[in-house]
Amino acid sequence: LLGAGGLAVIGVGGYWLTEGRSSGGGTSFTTPLRIPPLAESEVVDGERVFRLAARAGETELVPGVQFATMGFNGVHLGPTIRAARGERVRMHVTNELDVPTTAHWHGMILPATEDGTPHQSIAPAATWTAAWQIDQPAATLWYHPHPHGQTELQVGRGMAGLFLVDDDDESPDLPSEYGVDDIPLIIQDIAVRPGGESAGTPTASPIGRIGNTPIVNGTYRPHLRASSGLVRLRILNASAARCYNLELSTGEPLLLVGTDGGLLPSPQSVQRVFLSPAERAEVLVQLPPGSDLVLRSVPHDLGMSSGDDTASGADNTLDILRITTPSDTTAREVPTTLPSAVLPALADAMTERRFMLGNTTINGRVMDMDRIDTTIVAGATERWTIMNTSDRAHNFHIHGAQFAVHRVNGEKPAAQNRGWKDTVFLARDDAMELIVPFSSYVDPATPYMYHCHLLWHEDQGMMAQYVLTTDGGDDGADAGTDMGM
Ligand code: C2O
Ligand code: CU
Ligand code: CU
Repeated sequence: LLGAGGLAVIGVGGYWLTEGRSSGGGTSFTTPLRIPPLAESEVVDGERVFRLAARAGETELVPGVQFATMGFNGVHLGPTIRAARGERVRMHVTNELDVPTTAHWHGMILPATEDGTPHQSIAPAATWTAAWQIDQPAATLWYHPHPHGQTELQVGRGMAGLFLVDDDDESPDLPSEYGVDDIPLIIQDIAVRPGGESAGTPTASPIGRIGNTPIVNGTYRPHLRASSGLVRLRILNASAARCYNLELSTGEPLLLVGTDGGLLPSPQSVQRVFLSPAERAEVLVQLPPGSDLVLRSVPHDLGMSSGDDTASGADNTLDILRITTPSDTTAREVPTTLPSAVLPALADAMTERRFMLGNTTINGRVMDMDRIDTTIVAGATERWTIMNTSDRAHNFHIHGAQFAVHRVNGEKPAAQNRGWKDTVFLARDDAMELIVPFSSYVDPATPYMYHCHLLWHEDQGMMAQYVLTTDGGDDGADAGTDMGM
């Protein structure tokens, strides 16, 4: 397939394959950044009701070149769902694909039956309904499918959308006009080959399949024309495997205001924000009149051998988004404090557990849908130590909870891990201590997942299950690692 400007893409086995390539400079970034539409909803009997339909089709992701894609309420990505703390929501999800799927609300604290895991599979043509009351602080969450063994394919083709939780006490100085000064950025990577030569076999990396070209909200070489002197970027890494180490081309800092699960107590000035798949960051960017800058991803260290880092795309500089402002932009105040929920402390944790990450295992095991790995007292706070004992990079996500990072390799975590998190990155040999307050939704029969969110690893079975019960109980298979005190 030959596209505009002589670009060509090759699809093999349903994936778009890669050769490293940086566009450089950002001036070729001229396509207006698409903004995912807000999902429509209606309030019926006190519930805010949304309807989603999973679909497959083709999308012209690169000018002149069609890609096989999947999405919700369209054939690529999904609408942004928005609901407020305290509201009851009801989601009707219809599967218009010809394969099973699910809809998982990543980062949401809710009963396990509503979580959209492989246990709530939606058959083709079926509709699944989930309903719960939103009870957590304002945050940038997201939703995506979670079918057993098929998540990389479905998310990689574009099944991902944002789920924004609003809370009354959001700071008035925080930009909050959706799509105007409060900008969603869903970053995925696709593979675009220069020249049109055959891609041959897929470029496998130790962390999964890596595309060479980032797209944002489905926009190739996107350009955001901001009209405000201060914008809030809600950034989601919805890629299957690629990590991004984001900075501004001007050398100006990013003002980090939020992590996976909510806002920080105050903006933190950082040079870079590193996002592994599924992680989110909310940052403020100050834009003087006549700004012309690029948000880009710069090389990072995944801790693997240099060849494996290269295969995983860690050596590349990639331009993500060009941002410009007109010459009459007016400056805006940066908020100094933010409404932020207090993190749990180490003293709150009554039970300690350890999880060893192997190459595609957790504590030496692969996922078994019929095995409960961990039994937890509902409402308890636990200390989880995650150790990457493998030869590759991973991340670690816990469903149905938001947690604090207590220590990273024995040290206080860096700014981007100092807020509420549901997914954390572990380079090879990293160890992280998490303090996890679990919810009170008792259900001994329905498990939540915890897993590596590098989607190929997840599909390989690098996933396990926990249940919340009234009295905890014997963990059977997990006994060797449960260090209950
Ligand atoms: Cu994004 Cu199991 O989740
Ligand atoms: Cu999740
Ligand atoms: Cu992994």
